[in-house]
Amino acid sequence: MTKQADANAAETSAYDVIIIGSGAAGLTAALELATRLRVLVLAKGSLTGGSTAWAQGGIAAVLDAGDTFENHVRDTMVAGAGLNDREAVEFVIERAPESIDRLVELGVPFNKDSGDLHLTREGGHSHRRIVHVDDATGWAVQSALLRAAEANPNITMLGGRTAIDLITDRNRERYSGGGHVWGVYALNEETGWVERHVARATIMAAGGAGRVYQFSTAPRGATGDGIAMAWRAGARVSNMEMMQFHPTCLYNLEVKNFLITEAVRGEGGHLKHPETGHRFMTEYDADRMELAPRDVVARAIDDQIKRFGLDYVHLDISHQPPEFVREHFPTIYDKLMGLGIDMTKEPIPVVPAQHYTCGGIVVDLFARTDLPGLWAAGECTESGLHGANRLASNSLLECFVFGEAAASDILTMWDELPEPPAILPWDESRVSDSDEQVVIKQNWTEIRRFMWNYVGIVRTTKRLERAANRIALLRQEVEDYYGSFVVTTDLIELRNLLQSAELIVTSALARKESRGLHYTLDYPGLKATVRDTVLVP
Ligand code: FAD
Ligand code: SIN
Repeated sequence: MTKQADANAAETSAYDVIIIGSGAAGLTAALELATRLRVLVLAKGSLTGGSTAWAQGGIAAVLDAGDTFENHVRDTMVAGAGLNDREAVEFVIERAPESIDRLVELGVPFNKDSGDLHLTREGGHSHRRIVHVDDATGWAVQSALLRAAEANPNITMLGGRTAIDLITDRNRERYSGGGHVWGVYALNEETGWVERHVARATIMAAGGAGRVYQFSTAPRGATGDGIAMAWRAGARVSNMEMMQFHPTCLYNLEVKNFLITEAVRGEGGHLKHPETGHRFMTEYDADRMELAPRDVVARAIDDQIKRFGLDYVHLDISHQPPEFVREHFPTIYDKLMGLGIDMTKEPIPVVPAQHYTCGGIVVDLFARTDLPGLWAAGECTESGLHGANRLASNSLLECFVFGEAAASDILTMWDELPEPPAILPWDESRVSDSDEQVVIKQNWTEIRRFMWNYVGIVRTTKRLERAANRIALLRQEVEDYYGSFVVTTDLIELRNLLQSAELIVTSALARKESRGLHYTLDYPGLKATVRDTVLVP
Protein backbone atom coordinates (compact mmCIF):
# COMPACT_ATOMS: atom_id res chain seq x y z
CA MET A 1 0.00 0.00 0.00
CA THR A 2 1.33 3.49 -0.86
CA LYS A 3 1.43 6.18 1.81
CA GLN A 4 -1.48 7.95 0.16
CA ALA A 5 -3.54 4.78 0.04
CA ASP A 6 -2.84 4.43 3.74
CA ALA A 7 -4.30 7.88 4.34
CA ASN A 8 -7.36 7.08 2.27
CA ALA A 9 -7.86 3.91 4.23
CA ALA A 10 -7.82 6.00 7.41
CA GLU A 11 -11.25 7.26 6.45
CA THR A 12 -12.94 8.82 9.47
CA SER A 13 -16.48 7.62 9.02
CA ALA A 14 -16.58 7.16 12.79
CA TYR A 15 -18.02 10.68 13.02
CA ASP A 16 -21.57 11.84 12.42
CA VAL A 17 -20.78 15.45 11.56
CA ILE A 18 -17.64 17.11 10.21
CA ILE A 19 -17.00 20.77 10.96
CA ILE A 20 -14.38 22.70 9.02
CA GLY A 21 -13.12 25.46 11.31
CA SER A 22 -12.49 25.80 15.04
CA GLY A 23 -13.46 29.46 15.47
CA ALA A 24 -16.59 30.86 17.14
CA ALA A 25 -18.96 29.44 14.52
CA GLY A 26 -17.44 25.95 14.30
CA LEU A 27 -17.08 25.38 18.03
CA THR A 28 -20.52 26.76 18.87
CA ALA A 29 -22.01 24.23 16.46
CA ALA A 30 -19.79 21.43 17.78
CA LEU A 31 -20.83 21.96 21.41
CA GLU A 32 -24.52 21.86 20.55
CA LEU A 33 -24.21 18.81 18.24
CA ALA A 34 -22.17 16.90 20.80
CA THR A 35 -25.22 16.62 23.04
CA ARG A 36 -26.25 13.70 20.78
CA LEU A 37 -23.76 13.17 17.94
CA ARG A 38 -20.06 12.43 17.40
CA VAL A 39 -18.35 15.45 15.93
CA LEU A 40 -15.01 15.92 14.16
CA VAL A 41 -13.62 19.47 14.00
CA LEU A 42 -10.84 20.10 11.45
CA ALA A 43 -8.68 23.21 11.42
CA LYS A 44 -5.88 24.49 9.27
CA GLY A 45 -2.73 25.08 11.34
CA SER A 46 -3.41 25.63 15.03
CA LEU A 47 -6.86 25.36 16.62
CA THR A 48 -6.64 29.05 17.57
CA GLY A 49 -5.51 30.32 14.17
CA GLY A 50 -8.77 31.96 13.00
CA SER A 51 -10.02 35.53 13.43
CA THR A 52 -12.02 34.68 16.54
CA ALA A 53 -8.93 34.67 18.74
CA TRP A 54 -7.99 38.12 17.41
CA ALA A 55 -11.27 39.91 18.05
CA GLN A 56 -10.80 42.95 20.23
CA GLY A 57 -13.87 45.15 20.71
CA GLY A 58 -16.54 42.66 21.76
CA ILE A 59 -20.02 41.32 21.06
CA ALA A 60 -23.13 43.43 20.42
CA ALA A 61 -26.26 42.61 22.45
CA VAL A 62 -29.22 44.57 23.79
CA LEU A 63 -28.73 44.30 27.55
CA ASP A 64 -29.34 47.82 28.77
CA ALA A 65 -32.84 48.74 29.99
CA GLY A 66 -32.77 51.91 27.87
CA ASP A 67 -31.99 50.01 24.69
CA THR A 68 -34.31 47.90 22.48
CA PHE A 69 -34.04 45.18 19.83
CA GLU A 70 -35.62 47.67 17.44
CA ASN A 71 -32.71 50.11 18.03
CA HIS A 72 -30.16 47.40 17.32
CA VAL A 73 -32.07 46.28 14.20
CA ARG A 74 -32.21 49.87 12.93
CA ASP A 75 -28.50 50.49 13.55
CA THR A 76 -27.64 47.23 11.74
CA MET A 77 -29.79 48.15 8.73
CA VAL A 78 -28.47 51.73 8.58
CA ALA A 79 -24.88 50.44 8.58
CA GLY A 80 -25.85 47.78 6.01
CA ALA A 81 -27.29 50.47 3.68
CA GLY A 82 -30.60 48.64 3.45
CA LEU A 83 -29.14 45.55 1.77
CA ASN A 84 -29.75 43.49 4.92
CA ASP A 85 -32.49 40.88 5.15
CA ARG A 86 -34.66 42.22 7.98
CA GLU A 87 -35.79 38.74 9.01
CA ALA A 88 -32.18 37.60 9.40
CA VAL A 89 -31.30 40.78 11.31
CA GLU A 90 -34.16 40.24 13.78
CA PHE A 91 -33.33 36.53 14.05
CA VAL A 92 -29.77 37.30 15.16
CA ILE A 93 -30.41 40.32 17.34
CA GLU A 94 -33.22 38.71 19.33
CA ARG A 95 -30.96 35.74 20.10
CA ALA A 96 -28.00 37.88 21.24
CA PRO A 97 -28.81 37.98 24.98
CA GLU A 98 -29.08 34.16 25.21
CA SER A 99 -25.78 33.80 23.28
CA ILE A 100 -24.12 36.02 25.87
CA ASP A 101 -25.70 33.96 28.70
CA ARG A 102 -24.22 30.78 27.21
CA LEU A 103 -20.77 32.37 27.00
CA VAL A 104 -21.03 33.47 30.63
CA GLU A 105 -21.93 29.85 31.52
CA LEU A 106 -18.84 28.69 29.62
CA GLY A 107 -16.77 31.00 31.81
CA VAL A 108 -16.04 33.98 29.54
CA PRO A 109 -14.99 36.66 32.07
CA PHE A 110 -16.80 39.67 30.58
CA ASN A 111 -15.96 43.03 32.18
CA LYS A 112 -18.46 44.19 34.77
CA ASP A 113 -19.64 47.53 36.04
CA SER A 114 -21.33 47.56 39.48
CA GLY A 115 -22.39 43.92 39.07
CA ASP A 116 -23.80 44.24 35.53
CA LEU A 117 -21.91 43.54 32.32
CA HIS A 118 -19.97 46.62 31.21
CA LEU A 119 -21.17 47.88 27.83
CA THR A 120 -18.84 49.83 25.59
CA ARG A 121 -19.72 51.75 22.44
CA GLU A 122 -18.61 51.42 18.84
CA GLY A 123 -19.25 53.19 15.54
CA GLY A 124 -22.79 52.96 14.12
CA HIS A 125 -24.34 51.92 17.46
CA SER A 126 -26.86 54.39 18.87
CA HIS A 127 -26.45 52.88 22.37
CA ARG A 128 -23.78 51.31 24.52
CA ARG A 129 -24.28 47.60 23.83
CA ILE A 130 -20.89 45.91 23.36
CA VAL A 131 -19.96 43.33 26.00
CA HIS A 132 -16.23 42.72 26.13
CA VAL A 133 -13.25 41.28 27.96
CA ASP A 134 -10.98 44.31 28.11
CA ASP A 135 -9.72 44.79 24.55
CA ALA A 136 -9.07 41.09 23.91
CA THR A 137 -12.59 39.64 23.80
CA GLY A 138 -11.83 37.15 21.05
CA TRP A 139 -9.07 35.39 22.94
CA ALA A 140 -11.33 34.93 25.99
CA VAL A 141 -14.15 33.56 23.81
CA GLN A 142 -11.89 31.25 21.78
CA SER A 143 -10.28 29.88 24.97
CA ALA A 144 -13.62 29.20 26.67
CA LEU A 145 -15.06 27.44 23.61
CA LEU A 146 -11.91 25.35 23.17
CA ARG A 147 -11.85 24.36 26.85
CA ALA A 148 -15.45 23.16 26.63
CA ALA A 149 -14.89 21.31 23.34
CA GLU A 150 -11.72 19.62 24.58
CA ALA A 151 -13.55 18.40 27.68
CA ASN A 152 -16.39 16.90 25.62
CA PRO A 153 -15.94 13.18 24.82
CA ASN A 154 -18.16 13.49 21.72
CA ILE A 155 -15.87 16.06 20.09
CA THR A 156 -12.57 15.24 18.38
CA MET A 157 -10.46 18.15 17.20
CA LEU A 158 -7.72 17.79 14.63
CA GLY A 159 -5.53 20.82 13.93
CA GLY A 160 -2.98 20.74 11.12
CA ARG A 161 -5.60 19.65 8.56
CA THR A 162 -6.08 21.85 5.49
CA ALA A 163 -9.40 21.05 3.85
CA ILE A 164 -8.91 20.91 0.08
CA ASP A 165 -12.32 20.25 -1.42
CA LEU A 166 -15.74 19.13 -0.29
CA ILE A 167 -16.62 15.55 -1.14
CA THR A 168 -19.73 15.63 -3.31
CA ASP A 169 -21.67 13.15 -5.39
CA ARG A 170 -18.98 13.60 -8.05
CA ASN A 171 -16.64 11.71 -5.74
CA ARG A 172 -19.02 8.75 -5.30
CA GLU A 173 -17.91 5.44 -6.68
CA ARG A 174 -20.93 5.52 -8.94
CA TYR A 175 -21.65 9.16 -9.84
CA SER A 176 -25.33 9.73 -10.30
CA GLY A 177 -25.41 13.53 -10.62
CA GLY A 178 -26.64 15.82 -7.86
CA GLY A 179 -24.65 17.87 -5.40
CA HIS A 180 -24.96 16.20 -2.00
CA VAL A 181 -22.00 16.86 0.29
CA TRP A 182 -20.46 13.93 2.18
CA GLY A 183 -17.50 15.46 3.99
CA VAL A 184 -14.12 16.71 2.87
CA TYR A 185 -10.70 15.77 1.54
CA ALA A 186 -8.08 17.31 3.80
CA LEU A 187 -4.31 17.56 3.72
CA ASN A 188 -2.57 16.29 6.84
CA GLU A 189 0.00 19.07 7.17
CA GLU A 190 2.42 16.86 9.06
CA THR A 191 2.46 13.72 6.90
CA GLY A 192 1.63 15.43 3.58
CA TRP A 193 -1.07 12.82 2.90
CA VAL A 194 -4.60 13.61 1.87
CA GLU A 195 -7.29 12.15 4.17
CA ARG A 196 -10.93 11.44 3.38
CA HIS A 197 -13.33 12.53 6.11
CA VAL A 198 -16.80 11.24 5.34
CA ALA A 199 -20.03 12.01 7.23
CA ARG A 200 -23.78 12.48 6.90
CA ALA A 201 -23.53 16.21 7.58
CA THR A 202 -20.80 18.83 7.06
CA ILE A 203 -20.62 22.38 8.42
CA MET A 204 -18.41 24.93 6.72
CA ALA A 205 -17.08 27.43 9.27
CA ALA A 206 -13.76 28.33 7.68
CA GLY A 207 -13.83 32.14 8.16
CA GLY A 208 -13.24 35.00 5.74
CA ALA A 209 -11.07 35.95 2.78
CA GLY A 210 -9.31 39.05 4.17
CA ARG A 211 -5.86 37.96 3.09
CA VAL A 212 -6.83 38.53 -0.51
CA TYR A 213 -5.75 42.12 0.25
CA GLN A 214 -2.20 43.33 0.83
CA PHE A 215 -3.17 45.11 4.05
CA SER A 216 -5.58 43.26 6.31
CA THR A 217 -6.20 42.89 10.03
CA ALA A 218 -7.10 39.22 9.47
CA PRO A 219 -4.84 36.30 10.34
CA ARG A 220 -2.61 34.59 7.76
CA GLY A 221 -5.09 31.75 7.13
CA ALA A 222 -8.03 33.96 6.09
CA THR A 223 -7.71 32.95 2.44
CA GLY A 224 -11.36 32.34 1.59
CA ASP A 225 -10.98 28.53 1.59
CA GLY A 226 -14.53 27.87 2.79
CA ILE A 227 -16.14 30.19 0.26
CA ALA A 228 -14.05 28.78 -2.59
CA MET A 229 -14.71 25.14 -1.59
CA ALA A 230 -18.46 25.69 -1.37
CA TRP A 231 -18.45 27.56 -4.70
CA ARG A 232 -16.54 24.77 -6.43
CA ALA A 233 -19.00 22.25 -4.98
CA GLY A 234 -21.92 24.18 -6.49
CA ALA A 235 -23.22 26.56 -3.79
CA ARG A 236 -24.26 30.13 -4.57
CA VAL A 237 -22.18 32.97 -3.17
CA SER A 238 -23.43 36.51 -2.68
CA ASN A 239 -22.39 40.12 -2.00
CA MET A 240 -18.68 39.39 -2.29
CA GLU A 241 -18.02 43.00 -3.35
CA MET A 242 -18.82 44.03 0.23
CA MET A 243 -15.33 43.76 1.74
CA GLN A 244 -15.10 45.79 4.93
CA PHE A 245 -12.11 48.02 5.62
CA HIS A 246 -11.50 48.85 9.27
CA PRO A 247 -10.59 52.52 9.61
CA THR A 248 -7.89 52.10 12.24
CA CYS A 249 -5.12 49.57 11.74
CA LEU A 250 -1.79 50.56 13.31
CA TYR A 251 0.60 52.15 10.81
CA ASN A 252 3.96 50.61 11.57
CA LEU A 253 6.62 49.41 9.17
CA GLU A 254 7.29 46.23 11.17
CA VAL A 255 3.90 45.36 12.66
CA LYS A 256 1.64 45.33 9.63
CA ASN A 257 -1.75 44.12 10.81
CA PHE A 258 -2.39 45.21 14.38
CA LEU A 259 -5.93 46.50 14.89
CA ILE A 260 -6.69 49.50 17.06
CA THR A 261 -10.20 48.68 18.23
CA GLU A 262 -13.13 50.84 17.30
CA ALA A 263 -13.81 51.06 21.04
CA VAL A 264 -10.94 53.59 21.25
CA ARG A 265 -13.17 55.93 19.26
CA GLY A 266 -16.16 54.68 21.25
CA GLU A 267 -14.46 55.82 24.44
CA GLY A 268 -13.66 59.28 23.05
CA GLY A 269 -10.73 58.91 20.60
CA HIS A 270 -10.46 61.60 17.89
CA LEU A 271 -9.19 61.26 14.33
CA LYS A 272 -6.82 64.07 13.36
CA HIS A 273 -4.73 65.28 10.45
CA PRO A 274 -1.18 64.38 11.59
CA GLU A 275 0.30 67.78 10.73
CA THR A 276 -2.46 70.29 11.49
CA GLY A 277 -4.27 68.35 14.23
CA HIS A 278 -7.59 69.13 12.47
CA ARG A 279 -10.47 66.77 13.45
CA PHE A 280 -11.28 66.02 9.84
CA MET A 281 -14.45 63.99 10.45
CA THR A 282 -16.25 67.37 10.70
CA GLU A 283 -15.98 67.51 6.91
CA TYR A 284 -17.42 64.03 6.28
CA ASP A 285 -20.06 63.32 8.95
CA ALA A 286 -20.44 66.25 11.31
CA ASP A 287 -23.19 64.54 13.33
CA ARG A 288 -21.68 61.15 14.01
CA MET A 289 -18.02 62.20 13.64
CA GLU A 290 -15.64 59.35 14.60
CA LEU A 291 -18.60 57.09 15.42
CA ALA A 292 -20.05 57.07 11.92
CA PRO A 293 -20.21 53.55 10.37
CA ARG A 294 -16.93 52.05 9.23
CA ASP A 295 -17.36 52.60 5.51
CA VAL A 296 -17.84 56.35 6.09
CA VAL A 297 -14.84 56.67 8.43
CA ALA A 298 -12.56 54.47 6.28
CA ARG A 299 -13.40 56.50 3.15
CA ALA A 300 -12.75 59.75 5.03
CA ILE A 301 -9.29 58.56 6.12
CA ASP A 302 -8.55 57.26 2.61
CA ASP A 303 -9.53 60.66 1.22
CA GLN A 304 -7.28 62.52 3.68
CA ILE A 305 -4.34 60.23 2.90
CA LYS A 306 -4.77 60.65 -0.86
CA ARG A 307 -5.62 64.37 -0.80
CA PHE A 308 -2.69 65.42 1.41
CA GLY A 309 -0.20 62.72 0.36
CA LEU A 310 -0.06 61.33 3.91
CA ASP A 311 1.20 57.94 5.06
CA TYR A 312 -1.32 57.80 7.92
CA VAL A 313 -3.66 59.86 10.09
CA HIS A 314 -3.70 60.17 13.88
CA LEU A 315 -6.05 58.54 16.36
CA ASP A 316 -5.79 60.46 19.60
CA ILE A 317 -7.19 59.45 22.99
CA SER A 318 -4.47 61.16 25.03
CA HIS A 319 -7.00 63.72 26.35
CA GLN A 320 -8.61 60.96 28.48
CA PRO A 321 -7.10 60.23 31.93
CA PRO A 322 -4.09 57.83 31.56
CA GLU A 323 -5.60 55.37 34.06
CA PHE A 324 -8.85 55.20 32.05
CA VAL A 325 -6.92 54.45 28.84
CA ARG A 326 -4.73 51.79 30.43
CA GLU A 327 -7.72 50.14 32.11
CA HIS A 328 -9.86 50.01 28.96
CA PHE A 329 -7.17 49.05 26.48
CA PRO A 330 -4.46 47.06 28.27
CA THR A 331 -3.53 44.89 25.28
CA ILE A 332 -3.23 47.81 22.88
CA TYR A 333 -1.41 49.93 25.48
CA ASP A 334 1.20 47.20 26.09
CA LYS A 335 1.65 46.49 22.38
CA LEU A 336 2.14 50.19 21.56
CA MET A 337 4.48 50.78 24.50
CA GLY A 338 6.60 47.93 23.09
CA LEU A 339 6.80 49.94 19.86
CA GLY A 340 7.67 53.17 21.68
CA ILE A 341 4.20 54.79 21.45
CA ASP A 342 2.56 55.91 24.70
CA MET A 343 -1.12 56.27 23.78
CA THR A 344 -1.87 58.07 27.06
CA LYS A 345 0.43 60.90 25.94
CA GLU A 346 0.57 60.87 22.12
CA PRO A 347 -1.58 60.00 19.11
CA ILE A 348 -1.47 56.63 17.35
CA PRO A 349 -0.64 56.55 13.59
CA VAL A 350 -3.39 54.59 11.80
CA VAL A 351 -4.47 53.57 8.28
CA PRO A 352 -7.49 51.62 7.00
CA ALA A 353 -7.00 47.92 6.24
CA GLN A 354 -9.25 45.12 5.04
CA HIS A 355 -11.02 43.67 8.05
CA TYR A 356 -14.12 41.60 7.32
CA THR A 357 -15.75 39.64 4.47
CA CYS A 358 -19.45 40.60 4.48
CA GLY A 359 -20.34 38.37 1.52
CA GLY A 360 -20.05 34.61 1.28
CA ILE A 361 -21.91 31.32 0.94
CA VAL A 362 -25.67 31.91 0.76
CA VAL A 363 -27.40 30.46 3.85
CA ASP A 364 -30.95 30.57 5.19
CA LEU A 365 -32.06 30.91 8.81
CA PHE A 366 -31.31 27.20 9.39
CA ALA A 367 -27.74 27.81 8.15
CA ARG A 368 -28.54 25.54 5.19
CA THR A 369 -26.61 26.13 1.97
CA ASP A 370 -27.86 25.22 -1.52
CA LEU A 371 -26.26 21.79 -1.20
CA PRO A 372 -27.94 19.00 0.75
CA GLY A 373 -25.59 17.77 3.48
CA LEU A 374 -23.78 21.14 3.75
CA TRP A 375 -24.50 23.81 6.36
CA ALA A 376 -22.38 26.94 6.83
CA ALA A 377 -21.93 29.53 9.58
CA GLY A 378 -19.82 32.55 10.46
CA GLU A 379 -17.68 34.82 8.33
CA CYS A 380 -17.65 32.47 5.32
CA THR A 381 -21.41 33.04 4.87
CA GLU A 382 -23.83 35.66 3.65
CA SER A 383 -26.80 35.23 5.94
CA GLY A 384 -28.51 38.56 5.26
CA LEU A 385 -27.39 40.06 8.59
CA HIS A 386 -24.71 42.49 7.43
CA GLY A 387 -26.02 43.77 4.11
CA ALA A 388 -23.66 46.22 2.46
CA ASN A 389 -21.60 46.89 5.59
CA ARG A 390 -21.29 45.01 8.88
CA LEU A 391 -22.11 46.92 12.05
CA ALA A 392 -19.22 46.67 14.53
CA SER A 393 -19.30 43.63 16.85
CA ASN A 394 -22.20 41.96 15.04
CA SER A 395 -20.02 39.22 13.55
CA LEU A 396 -19.07 37.14 16.58
CA LEU A 397 -22.77 37.30 17.37
CA GLU A 398 -23.61 35.93 13.91
CA CYS A 399 -21.19 33.03 14.55
CA PHE A 400 -22.95 32.06 17.79
CA VAL A 401 -26.48 32.35 16.39
CA PHE A 402 -25.85 30.57 13.09
CA GLY A 403 -23.48 27.98 14.62
CA GLU A 404 -26.36 27.11 16.93
CA ALA A 405 -28.91 27.21 14.07
CA ALA A 406 -26.86 24.76 11.97
CA ALA A 407 -26.51 22.36 14.88
CA SER A 408 -30.21 22.51 15.83
CA ASP A 409 -31.23 21.89 12.22
CA ILE A 410 -28.94 18.87 11.88
CA LEU A 411 -30.18 17.45 15.18
CA THR A 412 -33.81 17.94 14.12
CA MET A 413 -33.42 16.23 10.75
CA TRP A 414 -30.80 13.69 11.77
CA ASP A 415 -32.94 10.60 11.23
CA GLU A 416 -33.80 11.68 7.69
CA LEU A 417 -30.18 12.31 6.62
CA PRO A 418 -28.95 9.53 4.32
CA GLU A 419 -25.90 7.38 5.07
CA PRO A 420 -22.86 8.36 2.96
CA PRO A 421 -22.21 6.26 -0.14
CA ALA A 422 -18.83 4.71 -0.98
CA ILE A 423 -16.46 7.57 -1.80
CA LEU A 424 -13.59 7.49 -4.27
CA PRO A 425 -10.11 7.88 -2.84
CA TRP A 426 -8.14 11.08 -3.37
CA ASP A 427 -6.70 11.27 -6.87
CA GLU A 428 -3.10 10.15 -6.50
CA SER A 429 -1.95 11.12 -9.98
CA ARG A 430 -0.19 14.27 -8.78
CA VAL A 431 2.93 12.62 -7.51
CA SER A 432 5.74 15.06 -8.16
CA ASP A 433 6.84 17.72 -5.72
CA SER A 434 7.08 21.23 -7.05
CA ASP A 435 10.63 22.51 -7.32
CA GLU A 436 9.48 26.11 -7.78
CA GLN A 437 7.88 27.41 -4.61
CA VAL A 438 8.68 30.90 -5.90
CA VAL A 439 5.70 30.63 -8.30
CA ILE A 440 3.31 30.38 -5.37
CA LYS A 441 4.91 33.26 -3.50
CA GLN A 442 5.00 35.48 -6.56
CA ASN A 443 1.34 34.86 -7.46
CA TRP A 444 0.17 35.28 -3.88
CA THR A 445 1.94 38.66 -3.60
CA GLU A 446 0.66 39.79 -6.98
CA ILE A 447 -2.99 39.00 -6.17
CA ARG A 448 -2.86 40.79 -2.84
CA ARG A 449 -1.22 43.86 -4.38
CA PHE A 450 -3.59 44.34 -7.33
CA MET A 451 -6.61 43.66 -5.12
CA TRP A 452 -5.45 46.45 -2.79
CA ASN A 453 -4.71 48.87 -5.62
CA TYR A 454 -7.64 48.11 -7.94
CA VAL A 455 -10.42 46.70 -5.74
CA GLY A 456 -9.94 48.76 -2.56
CA ILE A 457 -11.97 51.37 -0.68
CA VAL A 458 -12.70 53.53 -3.74
CA ARG A 459 -13.23 51.69 -7.05
CA THR A 460 -13.69 52.44 -10.74
CA THR A 461 -14.85 50.15 -13.55
CA LYS A 462 -11.49 50.53 -15.27
CA ARG A 463 -9.58 49.41 -12.18
CA LEU A 464 -11.94 46.48 -11.66
CA GLU A 465 -11.48 45.40 -15.28
CA ARG A 466 -7.72 45.57 -14.84
CA ALA A 467 -8.04 43.26 -11.84
CA ALA A 468 -10.31 40.91 -13.80
CA ASN A 469 -7.69 40.69 -16.57
CA ARG A 470 -4.93 39.88 -14.08
CA ILE A 471 -7.11 37.18 -12.54
CA ALA A 472 -7.83 35.58 -15.92
CA LEU A 473 -4.08 35.37 -16.65
CA LEU A 474 -3.22 33.94 -13.25
CA ARG A 475 -6.08 31.46 -13.29
CA GLN A 476 -4.53 29.34 -16.03
CA GLU A 477 -1.14 29.38 -14.35
CA VAL A 478 -2.50 28.45 -10.93
CA GLU A 479 -4.78 25.70 -12.28
CA ASP A 480 -1.88 24.20 -14.30
CA TYR A 481 0.29 24.27 -11.23
CA TYR A 482 -2.46 22.82 -9.02
CA GLY A 483 -3.10 20.04 -11.54
CA SER A 484 0.55 19.05 -11.79
CA PHE A 485 2.03 18.94 -8.31
CA VAL A 486 1.43 17.37 -4.92
CA VAL A 487 -0.81 19.69 -2.90
CA THR A 488 0.62 21.83 -0.09
CA THR A 489 -1.21 24.27 2.18
CA ASP A 490 0.37 27.23 0.34
CA LEU A 491 -0.86 25.92 -3.01
CA ILE A 492 -4.36 25.18 -1.71
CA GLU A 493 -4.54 28.69 -0.26
CA LEU A 494 -3.28 30.32 -3.44
CA ARG A 495 -6.00 28.55 -5.45
CA ASN A 496 -8.65 29.71 -2.97
CA LEU A 497 -7.25 33.24 -2.74
CA LEU A 498 -7.50 33.57 -6.51
CA GLN A 499 -11.02 32.12 -6.53
CA SER A 500 -12.07 34.59 -3.83
CA ALA A 501 -10.50 37.49 -5.75
CA GLU A 502 -12.46 36.45 -8.83
CA LEU A 503 -15.74 36.32 -6.90
CA ILE A 504 -15.08 39.77 -5.40
CA VAL A 505 -14.22 41.40 -8.72
CA THR A 506 -17.10 39.75 -10.61
CA SER A 507 -19.53 40.94 -7.93
CA ALA A 508 -18.05 44.44 -7.87
CA LEU A 509 -18.39 44.75 -11.65
CA ALA A 510 -21.99 43.60 -11.43
CA ARG A 511 -23.03 46.30 -8.93
CA LYS A 512 -23.70 49.49 -10.87
CA GLU A 513 -24.20 51.78 -7.86
CA SER A 514 -22.36 52.88 -4.71
CA ARG A 515 -23.85 51.19 -1.67
CA GLY A 516 -22.22 50.63 1.70
CA LEU A 517 -18.75 49.23 1.26
CA HIS A 518 -18.92 49.19 -2.53
CA TYR A 519 -18.03 52.72 -3.59
CA THR A 520 -17.30 53.37 -7.26
CA LEU A 521 -16.57 56.71 -8.88
CA ASP A 522 -18.38 55.54 -12.04
CA TYR A 523 -21.71 54.99 -10.28
CA PRO A 524 -21.65 57.29 -7.23
CA GLY A 525 -25.41 57.15 -6.56
CA LEU A 526 -27.76 54.59 -5.03
CA LYS A 527 -30.13 52.59 -7.22
CA ALA A 528 -33.80 52.67 -6.28
CA THR A 529 -34.03 48.90 -6.10
CA VAL A 530 -32.04 47.06 -3.46
CA ARG A 531 -30.59 43.82 -4.75
CA ASP A 532 -28.07 41.23 -3.56
CA THR A 533 -25.29 40.31 -5.98
CA VAL A 534 -25.83 36.58 -6.23
CA LEU A 535 -23.32 34.50 -8.21
CA VAL A 536 -24.40 31.07 -9.39
CA PRO A 537 -21.67 28.47 -10.08
P1 FAD B 1 -12.57 32.08 12.27
O1 FAD B 1 -12.56 32.42 13.71
O2 FAD B 1 -11.79 32.92 11.35
O3 FAD B 1 -12.15 30.57 12.16
C1 FAD B 1 -11.94 29.96 10.91
C2 FAD B 1 -11.49 28.54 11.15
O4 FAD B 1 -11.45 27.85 9.91
C3 FAD B 1 -10.10 28.43 11.74
O5 FAD B 1 -10.09 27.37 12.67
C4 FAD B 1 -9.25 28.06 10.53
O6 FAD B 1 -8.10 27.32 10.86
C5 FAD B 1 -10.23 27.18 9.79
N1 FAD B 1 -9.93 27.02 8.36
C6 FAD B 1 -9.83 27.97 7.40
N2 FAD B 1 -9.54 27.39 6.22
C7 FAD B 1 -9.46 26.07 6.45
C8 FAD B 1 -9.17 24.94 5.65
N3 FAD B 1 -8.89 25.05 4.35
N4 FAD B 1 -9.16 23.73 6.24
C9 FAD B 1 -9.41 23.57 7.56
N5 FAD B 1 -9.69 24.60 8.36
C10 FAD B 1 -9.71 25.83 7.81
N6 FAD B 1 -15.99 40.65 15.34
C11 FAD B 1 -16.77 41.04 16.38
O7 FAD B 1 -17.97 40.72 16.40
N7 FAD B 1 -16.23 41.76 17.39
C12 FAD B 1 -14.93 42.13 17.43
O8 FAD B 1 -14.48 42.76 18.37
C13 FAD B 1 -14.10 41.76 16.34
N8 FAD B 1 -12.79 42.12 16.31
C14 FAD B 1 -12.00 41.66 15.30
C15 FAD B 1 -10.63 41.97 15.30
C16 FAD B 1 -9.81 41.47 14.32
C17 FAD B 1 -8.34 41.79 14.35
C18 FAD B 1 -10.35 40.67 13.29
C19 FAD B 1 -9.48 40.14 12.20
C20 FAD B 1 -11.71 40.39 13.26
C21 FAD B 1 -12.53 40.88 14.26
N9 FAD B 1 -13.90 40.59 14.27
C22 FAD B 1 -14.68 40.99 15.32
C23 FAD B 1 -14.48 39.67 13.29
C24 FAD B 1 -14.61 38.28 13.93
O9 FAD B 1 -13.47 38.03 14.72
C25 FAD B 1 -14.74 37.19 12.89
O10 FAD B 1 -15.71 37.54 11.94
C26 FAD B 1 -15.16 35.88 13.53
O11 FAD B 1 -14.28 35.55 14.58
C27 FAD B 1 -15.16 34.77 12.49
O12 FAD B 1 -15.36 33.54 13.15
P2 FAD B 1 -15.50 32.22 12.31
O13 FAD B 1 -15.76 31.13 13.27
O14 FAD B 1 -16.43 32.42 11.19
O15 FAD B 1 -14.06 32.04 11.64
C1 SIN C 1 -12.96 46.40 16.74
O1 SIN C 1 -12.67 46.07 17.89
O2 SIN C 1 -12.86 47.53 16.29
C2 SIN C 1 -13.44 45.33 15.85
C3 SIN C 1 -14.86 45.14 16.10
C4 SIN C 1 -15.44 44.38 14.96
O3 SIN C 1 -14.76 44.10 13.99
O4 SIN C 1 -16.63 44.07 15.05
